[in-house]
Amino acid sequence: MKRRWVVAKGQPVTEMDKKVLAAQKAGHTVPSRNLILTEEQIDGVRKSGVVNTALLDMIGSEIKEGVSTEHLDDLIYQFTKDHGGIPADLGYEGFPKSSCISIDNVVCHGIPSPDAILKNGQIVNVDVTTILNGYYADASRMFVVGGTTTPEKQRLVDVTLECLQIGAAAAKPYSFTGDIGFAIQCHAQKNGYSVVRELCGHGVGLKFHEDPEVPHYGKPKTGMLLVPGMVFTIEPMINMGKREVHFDQLDKWTVTTRDGLPSAQWENTFVMTEEGLEVLTH
Ligand code: MF3
Ligand code: CO
Ligand code: CO
Repeated sequence: MKRRWVVAKGQPVTEMDKKVLAAQKAGHTVPSRNLILTEEQIDGVRKSGVVNTALLDMIGSEIKEGVSTEHLDDLIYQFTKDHGGIPADLGYEGFPKSSCISIDNVVCHGIPSPDAILKNGQIVNVDVTTILNGYYADASRMFVVGGTTTPEKQRLVDVTLECLQIGAAAAKPYSFTGDIGFAIQCHAQKNGYSVVRELCGHGVGLKFHEDPEVPHYGKPKTGMLLVPGMVFTIEPMINMGKREVHFDQLDKWTVTTRDGLPSAQWENTFVMTEEGLEVLTH
């Protein structure tokens, strides 16, 4: 059964079992055992993460004024193939490209296009997921076209990265997804920003999107228990203005801010260990 922890008959009860069973008894949501990856599986995600990170490094040096997001997407497709991987985005639920490239007021899921030409001062999120030997690694970064932008947009980019880091630091073994969301929401709001609620981090590794759902807002000690061996993303989308978003009805993908103000996002794939989170995408 999903989201229930059972110790099979005849199996020894481990320290992990005791902790999860106690949380379950106390009424918390706990993962099912299939969300705990083996060392071998974690290593597979780590190797996929190495390619995904090299991909983001490569794309970083290609971002400049005058380049179309479609050209960047072509480079992403080719690099992934050349490294023995598959871009997970391509064909995922009908998505037409190998990456999501989201500029300024686009929150996420921007579709690369020959008509989207980068201009100096824009803030751009490139979100890529690599499948290598069946293992998924998902990460995104912000880039500033031309290297400089307004102080307001630069601060949004910087604080959003801090939100990811602070969220990751809040994820202790046997803490909860809500502890991550709470930490992120506090930091964003303290800086005068808002947190997008419609899209969340997610379990990843063996599939693209999997339990747990990792909201970037919330309350401590709520949501799913975080057990060593779980692999998931944290990917806060932080708006300069109001948190409301709009889903494009025509292309079915592009998410924008309702108020037209900029939004930023950073994402990494992590594995929970007995010591805390380890990042698999850097
Ligand atoms: N990479 C996105 C995420 O962080 C998902 C993109 S799905 C796509 O979960 F279809 F738009 F590519
Ligand atoms: Co993701
Ligand atoms: Co992503």
